[in-house]
Amino acid sequence: MKALVAFYSESGNTEKLAKAIYDGINVPGKEIMPISEANAKDYDVIFVGFPVQASSVPAKVEEFIKSVPEGKKVAYFVTHGSLRGGQLAISALYYAFSLALKVTVLGTFGCRGQVKPSLIDALLKNLEHKAWAMEARSAAGHPDTADMEDGKEFANLMIAKARNM
Ligand SMILES: Cc1cc2nc3c(=O)[nH]c(=O)nc-3n(C[C@H](O)[C@H](O)[C@H](O)COP(=O)(O)O)c2cc1C
Repeated sequence: MKALVAFYSESGNTEKLAKAIYDGINVPGKEIMPISEANAKDYDVIFVGFPVQASSVPAKVEEFIKSVPEGKKVAYFVTHGSLRGGQLAISALYYAFSLALKVTVLGTFGCRGQVKPSLIDALLKNLEHKAWAMEARSAAGHPDTADMEDGKEFANLMIAKARNM
């Protein structure tokens, strides 16, 4: 079985989580790379990671998800400034699902990712960003050690699930 971790990250949060996920994958044929260099067709299981942006999937990631061939096994992971388990982050995952209807989604994982305070102040003035930006201040310090441990366990479980299919 070959597994790929393909990630998109602007300020490093998703990359940090991607590395923890990579560590949790227990197959010999595993690779990790930015989405811009990745080709899903060479792998059986593809972990796709991205930051939630404007309650959705960043455009470059959208393109990558659409390029995943039918029948592949996919696991999505996200980082987001808004509160954990909240609708503001979950809506991006729903959208990701809609982009590739003919893949098997093994599961999803999300954790919070910090946003620079100066950026939060600027985004609070923008109606499109206000709701999540209000929640983002308390994301400082994330992803933290516990997030990364959870990400690692997520990866391990997704691989076990893929093996049993
Ligand atoms: C332009 C922009 C838009 C964002 N939109 C959202 C959003 O809609 N919801 C949310 O929860 N977080 C949002 N965030 C916060 C990021 O998702 C979060 O900080 C993430 O961890 C960044 O990951 P990265 O460091 O891998 O780029 C946004 C951040 C930026 C810079």
